[in-house]
Amino acid sequence: MKEDNFEFFWINSDGEKKLATENLVIGNQVYNEKLITKKGTEYRLWDPFRSKLAAAIMNGLEIFPFKDKSSILYLGVSTGTTVSHISDIVGPSGIIFGVEHASRVARDFLDRVASHRANIIPILQDARKPKEYFSVFGKVDVVYVDIAQPDQTNIAIENCKMYLKKDGYFFLVIKTRSIDVTKSPKRIVEEEIQRMEVHFEILQVIDLHPYDKDHAMVIAKFLK
Ligand SMILES: C[S@@+](CC[C@H](N)C(=O)[O-])C[C@H]1O[C@@H](n2cnc3c(N)ncnc32)[C@H](O)[C@@H]1O
Repeated sequence: MKEDNFEFFWINSDGEKKLATENLVIGNQVYNEKLITKKGTEYRLWDPFRSKLAAAIMNGLEIFPFKDKSSILYLGVSTGTTVSHISDIVGPSGIIFGVEHASRVARDFLDRVASHRANIIPILQDARKPKEYFSVFGKVDVVYVDIAQPDQTNIAIENCKMYLKKDGYFFLVIKTRSIDVTKSPKRIVEEEIQRMEVHFEILQVIDLHPYDKDHAMVIAKFLK
């Protein structure tokens, strides 16, 4: 991954190079992350222990389709830690449709993240019902799925069929223990990938250890 590729940055902090994004909302913190100003630009440190996308970057992510003006469908926004950094990256002309079904979490997401950032459209819906996201328009560049459900691959495929551009990118976080506690994590990842192969070209599989235990990230291209 290139350094300082203008999508994310490496900033010196406490004697270490740390991942950061340029803050879209000056002065605004989302999860108490450190704000650092360099040459008049404010950055937010991006914690790989709190965000699996940051962990994937730390562990050698090769494709980064989140760019200025990108459109993203994000399933499982939770309180918005990762989404907030994607919001910094896609900028004021980009858009993120953020789906979350748990109302208490979604309220937090609205208060702390979506209400401050005009490029996020919150969707309080079940990701199993993509036909009910009335506010999604057009097709997106990236579908990012982090919902920790046993049938998440099927949910993801249905969402991609409806909303992802052909040759668009798909990021799936596999929480290996939530799918089947009796199987080894490696086998769970292999089985999930087999299920995906009909619809996607698998580009990279990243183990998120040591930032996240028993999680992997699969990056794929949507074929049909
Ligand atoms: C592991 S958390 C996501 C963390 C978040 N992606 C981040 O990096 O900051 C999983 C989230 O998915 C949500 N979720 C689970 N099943 C869902 C579904 N069927 N539809 C929408 N959201 C769902 C949960 O409520 C939870 O907030």
